[in-house]
Amino acid sequence: SGPETVSPTGQPTGADQARMAQSGAYLTTAQGVRVHDSDHSLKAGPRGPVLLQDHHLREKIMHFDHERIPERVVHARGSAAHGVFQSYGTAQAVTKAAFLARDAETPVFVRFSTVLGSRGSADTVRDTRGFATKFYTEEGVFDLVGNNIPVFFIQDAIKFPDIIHAGKPHPDREIPQAQSAHDTFWDFVSLHTEATHHTLWNMSDRGIPRSYRMMEGFGVHTFRLVNAQGVTTLVKFHWKPKLGVHSLVWEEAQILAGVDPDFHRRDLFDAIECGAFPQWELGIQTFPDTDDQMFEGIDLLDSTKIVPEELAPVQPIGLLTLNANPSNFFAEVEQVAFHTGHLVPGIDATDDPLLAGRNFSYLDTQLTRLGGPNFPQLPINRTHAPVNDMQRDGMHQTAVHRGVAPYKPNSLDGGCPFFAGADAGAFIEVPVEVPAGRKVREAPASYSDHFSQPRMFWLSMTPVEREHIIAAYTFELAKCYEQAVKERTLGVLANIDPELCAQVAVGLGLPAPAATEPLVDVRPSPALSQIGRTWPLD
Ligand code: HEM
Repeated sequence: SGPETVSPTGQPTGADQARMAQSGAYLTTAQGVRVHDSDHSLKAGPRGPVLLQDHHLREKIMHFDHERIPERVVHARGSAAHGVFQSYGTAQAVTKAAFLARDAETPVFVRFSTVLGSRGSADTVRDTRGFATKFYTEEGVFDLVGNNIPVFFIQDAIKFPDIIHAGKPHPDREIPQAQSAHDTFWDFVSLHTEATHHTLWNMSDRGIPRSYRMMEGFGVHTFRLVNAQGVTTLVKFHWKPKLGVHSLVWEEAQILAGVDPDFHRRDLFDAIECGAFPQWELGIQTFPDTDDQMFEGIDLLDSTKIVPEELAPVQPIGLLTLNANPSNFFAEVEQVAFHTGHLVPGIDATDDPLLAGRNFSYLDTQLTRLGGPNFPQLPINRTHAPVNDMQRDGMHQTAVHRGVAPYKPNSLDGGCPFFAGADAGAFIEVPVEVPAGRKVREAPASYSDHFSQPRMFWLSMTPVEREHIIAAYTFELAKCYEQAVKERTLGVLANIDPELCAQVAVGLGLPAPAATEPLVDVRPSPALSQIGRTWPLD
């Protein structure tokens, strides 16, 4: 239903491009009438009053007045690039997704972002980074909307407004812009201790990446793959950068935030511009789709937990190459709309309550941000597959739909049968059993373990990485005004590791509390752990 002139990278071509790129020889009004003078308003004499009949003035200023759209409520600051995903075919045994078949090549658009800062904030702040990929597959759009940290702050999406309210600047003074160094953030994460694991990753070197090109990416949730025979497998998605994982040190991050707040944006654009195309391998950890959806004692539906790679190695399934910069930041980077609900046949959601909330949230927020329900028609969001969705009209409709009967089945528009081709290539939700139970607002018992995995992460760190973590907690907490918030956070650190707690307490000039939870040394042994390490590629 949309224009058919779209290049493999999602760019408009031909007549569309000429119109949209404003490449004509003459300046015109939006109605195409040639303009004689765009520098002077129409006046009654050179010093006279401006005339109401000046349509060009009115149109030019009206459009300018409406150039801004709301920034994203989170992940407002980002930059992006076009590229291609080359499948190895190694996932074919576990999924029927066509873009994961051997040698399939799929155009992609990837947007990297910080989470908390506004659109104009600095790149090198301590924060989680978004890593969102849109695959324009022949079976429709698949979005992998991940982060550079494999776990999340909360286990249930109903808390998302709360953690974001706590992380965003204080409502009274609107500071800090883009960091976690403030009372509300530490208040939240010390009261909601499921946030401990994600916070520890943030305080590690992973919170200040050297470059978008040198970050891992994670789908975080467990997804369900289904193959051509209907057999299902649970998976976690991982992006592994060919350049390895590298971080800034804190002093570099602070200086860069002042000297070059666009450091990551510039780095990505310049690398692509000079032909140093960044690459990532996509990999999956696979788990049997058991009734309890647990693996080695780890709850696969709890997004605050990882599965260590020693227990489930990451298996490479394809290669992503970013090879083209956007030509218009607004049209591509600002207007792109990712959504965890954009799935293709062969990839399905699980019952992770965080994922369920996301599947509601993205469409909802984009309805406001992109001004009505027709944003899938924006060039960057258009699927490369044919669209026949029976959706009609609405604000900013650009398609001119044919036919008289926008419903199926109908006997008027050529008799297209209902569900034509449903058995061949349609997305069919995997008919998994839903566990029976009472309707309750309750989390499973396994969700109450908030400290064993943070401890595993801490124990896997080298001495210098531990020093950085201690320094990060000390710096951030020192900026809090509330003594009680600092003391409660020290109590959380004691439950991760007494030494971590003691060192931060010294830095803050406060006594170190004792642990209130048993310290559990979980597998794998620290010596073996690959958490936080670079994947040995090639
Ligand atoms: C945006 C990742 C949890 C709501 C984003 C973006 C990423 C992301 C990468 C930026 C997309 C872009 O570049 O345009 C994640 C991850 C999560 C998570 C990895 C947890 C595993 C949630 C939850 C909610 C949520 C639980 C709400 C219930 C949003 C919203 C946006 C957003 C509203 C802005 C989208 C837009 O304006 O287009 N998220 N998110 N996220 N996320 Fe999440």
